[in-house]
Amino acid sequence: MPTNLRDHLATNDAEPALADLIVTVVDTCSEISALVRRGALGEIMGALESENVQGEVQKKLDVISNDMLLQRCAASAGLVAMASEEMDDIHPVRDLTPKGGYLLLFDPLDGSSNIDVNVSIGTIFSILPAPMADAPRPAALADFLQKGRAQVAAGYVVYGPQTTLVLTLGDGVHAFTLDPDTGDWLQTSAGITIPPETKEYAINASNLRHWAPAVRGYVEVCLAGETGPRGKNFNMRWIASMVADVHRIMMRGGVFLYPWDAREPERAGKLRLMYEANPMSLLVEQAGGAAFDGHGAILDAEVTDLHQRISVMLGSRAEVAHIERLHQSA
Ligand code: AHG
Ligand code: MN
Ligand code: MN
Ligand code: MN
Repeated sequence: MPTNLRDHLATNDAEPALADLIVTVVDTCSEISALVRRGALGEIMGALESENVQGEVQKKLDVISNDMLLQRCAASAGLVAMASEEMDDIHPVRDLTPKGGYLLLFDPLDGSSNIDVNVSIGTIFSILPAPMADAPRPAALADFLQKGRAQVAAGYVVYGPQTTLVLTLGDGVHAFTLDPDTGDWLQTSAGITIPPETKEYAINASNLRHWAPAVRGYVEVCLAGETGPRGKNFNMRWIASMVADVHRIMMRGGVFLYPWDAREPERAGKLRLMYEANPMSLLVEQAGGAAFDGHGAILDAEVTDLHQRISVMLGSRAEVAHIERLHQSA
């Protein structure tokens, strides 16, 4: 009988408050999954009038899933504060103490443009250590500004043909599939490793004219196929849900690029560091892959703002190394 998530966390000696927080996040994702599966039979389709801090029009499910995570995770005793793609500021839950605790960051609904067209979407989460405070004090935004390598856990849930959790606590990557009959999360992969080589790349090619020369050159060689200098026939994939594109890479290899774009040169790209790039980069590195931001490892990127963007090139280690060399020689 496959092990379930709770037993896996207990067997791997996860600190109890951390285990409780992870189980609370994942059980909330079970409820989000149930809403996603009802689609137009429920009230989750369509957009709102509101915009989020990113300047994006919010979808109903962006806000519904955000509120569900805020409400349910607040009960987890080790949680000090939360931050999300959908909230301007942090959401303090309880004071920092000398005992420390955890900071939870999440993209409650990733791939929002796919909600209304029945394409896989997901939830991404990242857990950072809360600083220890000599005297109790509320968490501050500055407490969140930690590099990706400081994460104690990261994961995503993909709402696809299966509802699957991919999780790391810094000691390998494991997958759990939601059993729709019992509501249990049963382990379906242990020690996921990403194949180092690949012939598959994911990028939104409509932005080609805005990319830096190194990225444009890389994609043009991919498009040249067997007639080009690398001789391989590359396949392009783009689902426009990071969770789904990254899950494919976790399962069979590939590279995912959402690179720097000349349209917003100071913004470094579309994807957000703290609750998209960092958790995905920890998972990818833990699975033997690499995650590069055009200068160095994403997990080592300086953090200056809760919602900062970053250029993302991640996946199969040998292919990312090739992309890095192109940047160094550009
Ligand atoms: P979100 O829905 O959380 O705002 O994230 C969407 C992101 C990411 O999931 C995906 O890879 C990317 O946006 C797709 O961007 P394009 O629509 O420009 O292809
Ligand atoms: Mn969004
Ligand atoms: Mn997202
Ligand atoms: Mn989102």
